[in-house]
This record gives sequence, structure tokens and C-alpha cells, in this order.
Amino acid sequence: MCGIIGILGKGPVAGRILDALKRLEYRGYDSAGIATITEGAIDRRRASGKLVNLKTLLGSEPLAGDIGIGHTRWATHGPPIEKNAHPHATERVAVVHNGIIENFAELRQELVGFGRVFQSDTDTEVIAHLLTHLLDQGRDAESAMAEMMSRLDGAFAFCALVKDRPDLLLAARQGSAVAIGLGDGESFIGSDAVGLAPLTRRVVYLEEGDWAAVRRDGVTIHARDGQVVDRPVTLTEVSDAEVGKGNYRHFMEKEIHEQPEVIGDTLGYYYNPIRRRIVLPPLPFRIAGVPRITIIAAGTSFYAGMLAKYWLERIGRLSVEVDIASEFRYRQPEMSPGGVSLFISQSGETLDTLEALRYARSQGQIIVSLVNVPDSSMAREADLCLRTYAGPEIGVASTKAFTTQLTVLACLTLHLAREHGKLSTDEMARYAEQLIRLPALAAETLELADDMRAIAEEIAPCRDVLYLGRGASYPIAMEGALKLKEISYIHAEGYAAGEMKHGPIALITDGVPVIVIAPSDELFHKTAANLQEVLARGGRAIVLTDTEGAAKLKGTKARVFTVPKAEPLVAPILFTIPIQLMAYSVAVARGNDVDQPRNLAKSVTVE
Ligand code: F6R
Repeated sequence: MCGIIGILGKGPVAGRILDALKRLEYRGYDSAGIATITEGAIDRRRASGKLVNLKTLLGSEPLAGDIGIGHTRWATHGPPIEKNAHPHATERVAVVHNGIIENFAELRQELVGFGRVFQSDTDTEVIAHLLTHLLDQGRDAESAMAEMMSRLDGAFAFCALVKDRPDLLLAARQGSAVAIGLGDGESFIGSDAVGLAPLTRRVVYLEEGDWAAVRRDGVTIHARDGQVVDRPVTLTEVSDAEVGKGNYRHFMEKEIHEQPEVIGDTLGYYYNPIRRRIVLPPLPFRIAGVPRITIIAAGTSFYAGMLAKYWLERIGRLSVEVDIASEFRYRQPEMSPGGVSLFISQSGETLDTLEALRYARSQGQIIVSLVNVPDSSMAREADLCLRTYAGPEIGVASTKAFTTQLTVLACLTLHLAREHGKLSTDEMARYAEQLIRLPALAAETLELADDMRAIAEEIAPCRDVLYLGRGASYPIAMEGALKLKEISYIHAEGYAAGEMKHGPIALITDGVPVIVIAPSDELFHKTAANLQEVLARGGRAIVLTDTEGAAKLKGTKARVFTVPKAEPLVAPILFTIPIQLMAYSVAVARGNDVDQPRNLAKSVTVE
């Protein structure tokens, strides 16, 4: 969601802020702006739409100043028009903000009562006016900030500049991440380390409730209780080089093609080739004493969790529940004492998942997180953090993060199954051998790109598409439908193939594409029967299967595409690749903005 950048520089900052905002584009946004202090006054430029509009504006109306803040806005309160774009400013203060100020209506009314005049429809503007009001009462910037923090409710992050203090940026975190970058006589503020990567690698992350006074020579951080606290300086792993598109047209395409490599990188952390077994870091629990594992996530990460449930139940004989974070957190369920809760998130910042994690913590659960962003909130708040090593995922539609999540979840399954006494040494070695073949098989599967491009031309004009799968292919069908709808804007649904006759079959008429995910596993013949039902009703069946399955389907009217034959543990990961390629090519064929689809944000930090 919204991207925040602040720079206290040694020279003009507007161009550098624009570059940094460009790196945050992947988070999703619909307007942008920059404010600086120049000649003792706040000056700003804002534009709706993409950053190119802001760049054009800066070309004709440049912005001077060596301190500034910038923002990419994903609209919550008020449409994405210029007056609602950040920074919001008064005569003394400018502010950029991510998240929601829940008590903004009360604050706005109070501030209007003091004669303050609001210009926008946003909740953000109350921050600028409240800070100004407190400064007008004679407080200095730091004490005004401290007072303001006690007045704001909600989950947010923001960065502010104060006209009379060209040596200072203020930043706060209450629910959404803030990274402070330390440079050489310069300082930076960003919503994440990706934005700061070319500026510095030395980063301090604010913790919940912290606010910071950032100067060129360092930072003073105050905890929620007002005490000055030390937060560790970390060296971020995000490198500048990692975030280009290379020879690819879109980040999504690049990220799909990176999968063999990043799956291999990820396996490298969990596979011990000498002992031929999966080795995880020491677990903060003994699986024998765990009554239940609860998996919680959102979107694509939730589908990874769905698949993990199949594996953990089947291979580990463990009791597993899987839940959508936004539902789980408000249901306030009873949680078995001694239970383990696993939170899956690419960003590690999705607000619903993070709040669900905190709820589970309050219920005495042991917290395990599986994240891609190393220093994210979920990484830091877990008893054990497992990592995917996918590198920065910039395309809004998740691809390599999903398959690396599945890779780690497969490793976790094997490790827990072994600890649970359900896997012999030989079985462990056999499964591990299957996993280490995965990068090579993924590379082979990518050869379907041309076939998927061809089929995409046929799907691109369609209105509806169905995805069917059984067992471990069911979450992949769900993921396929999500991938297609989010970037192609075609209505798509994923169903358990066995549910077809309970309703969805009514949707099948002449020519409706039905993507059937059918590896030749023990459920193949059942899925094949569902395929016949689709064909009998005029559905345009497109089957993804393996060589064995293709042989069995010879002579059917379905279009059959062949994924390399793999064992059941790794097959779902491979079958994900053609559905990603297909969704990507459909979106390209429709001329859509693949990497930044409309209305979507990469990291959903509001609920
Ligand atoms: C879909 C997609 C989203 C995310 C979801 C959770 O392609 O990217 O559905 O999976 O917003 O995000 P994380 O994994 O960062 O918690």
C-alpha cells in the first residue's frame, strides 16, 4: 500500500525522492507527491495517476530543497485526485502517511473548532493540522510529536517535516512498518528497505508505538511510553541490483522465470545434502506435545497454507486448521493451550495477518512465521521465523513468493513428520530427493511458456473462467483463479472438482474455459470424470497434467498440456507455474498493467 520516503540530504532531494518512490511503486498506488522545505517555506508537487505524471510536473515546476518527503498513495479516504494526494500540508507542517487514522473524524471536528481549515477528504490531513495546532501553542517539534502520538488511534505509519526545522524529520510507527536509513551525513525514512536500497544499507526499524526524531547525524527513538530507546542497526539484505527487470518485459515475468533459482536458494537453507534430510532451525516446541497447528494467512499466502494442511495431515498425521487472517482475527476463537500458530506472509506486514499473530500470542500460542521480507514485523514478532529466499518480489501478483513458501512448507512437513515419528529415515531421504529435483523440474516446466501464451490468446476475450482441482490441486486451482482475476480482470473461480455437481456446473455453457489441474495421482480418475462432465456441457476444457495423465487422456476433446511427471509432494509446486504463465500472458494480451494491476497493493497494511 502507500509508500513513504523522507530524505535529509546534503543537496537537492526531490529527484532522489522520486527515484525512491519509483522503487516503492510495486506496493500499489494511484497518486503521488513530494514536499520540501525551500527558502524557509514548504513547497510541494502532487499528481494523480502514475509517477510519470509527477515527474512531468517536476520537470516544468522543479522543487528545490535538501530536506523532503514523498509518497505514493493507495486511496482509502477520498478518491485518487490531486487534492487528496500526499503530502498534506499546512503553513507549518507537511505529512505523508500510510494506514488509517481511525479517530480522524473526531479530531477533524475538534481542529475545525479551533479554526483550522481542511483542504482534502483524507484522514491524513488531521496529522498535519494537529501537529500545527500543537506547535502554535508554543511547543517544540519533538514535544508536539509526543503529544500527538497519544491522540492518534488506528494502524498507521507517517513521516512529517516542520517548516522551521530543516534539520529534522519526524516518523512514527503504529501498525505499519517504518525503516530509518542511516547514511554518511544524511538520513532517510522509508516504508521498507526496498525503497532505501540505493541510499543506504544501514537500517533501523521502528517498533510498534515508536516515534523518531531523525536528523542528518542520527536518530532519537522514543517508545510508546515516551522513553528514549535504542533499536538495533541492521544491514539490509536488499541490494540495489536485485530490483531491476533484467531482460524481461515485466517484473512478474522475471519473477516467474526466477523460480528454479529461488526455489533452489530456499532449499539450500533447509536441505542437508550430506545427511540427505531436511534440517530446520531448532523448533521452540516439541511436536508430540502440540495439540493443533493453526495456519493463518491472506490471499495467495492463504492458498499456500491450504496446501500445507493437506501435507501436514497426510504425511505428518497432524491436526491442522487453516484460516483467513481477516476472518480469524475478529472471530476471537478459543485456541488450544500449547498450540502452534503459523503465519504465512510474503511481506510480513499484512495488517490482518499481523494482528492475527498478536491475537494468537495473547492466547499463549507458540508463534512461527514464514516470511520473505527478512526484517518484517512478522519476522521479528515470532518465536521462530522461517524464511523464503525469493528475493524482493516487485510484481503485485505473487509468484515466486508462493512457490518458495510451498517449498519451505514441504520442508516443514517432512521435518515435523519425522519428529512426530511418522517418517522413517529412508522415507525422509526419498522425499528429500524429490525436493532437490524441484529446481530442475521447475526449469523444465517453464518451457510451457509458449503454449501458455498461445492458449492465453483464446482466454483473453472470455468473460468467465473456472479452475478445478482435487486434493492438493484444489489450492492450486484457487491460486490460478486469483492470479487470473487480479491481473487480467476476468472473472475467475477456483473450485474443488468434486464440488462441481453441487452448483458450479450450472455455469458451464458453450465455450466457457475450464482449466483442470490433474496430475496423475490417486485422484486422477475422479478429476478425469469431472472433465468429462465439463466436456459434455460444451465447456472448453484445458487440462494441465503430466506425461502419464496425458497418455490416459488421449482421444478426449480437451486441450492437454504436459507438466513434467513428479511425485505428489512436489507436483503442486510445478503445476503452479503454467497457471502463472497463463495468467501473465492473458493480462499482457489484454494490454493490462501487469505489475501494478488496478486497485491492488503489494503489502496490505490497512484492514
Ligand atoms: C496475490 C497476492 C495477495 C497476497 C496477500 C497477502 O497475488 O499477492 O493475495 O498474497 O495480500 O500478502 P502477504 O503474503 O504479503 O501477507
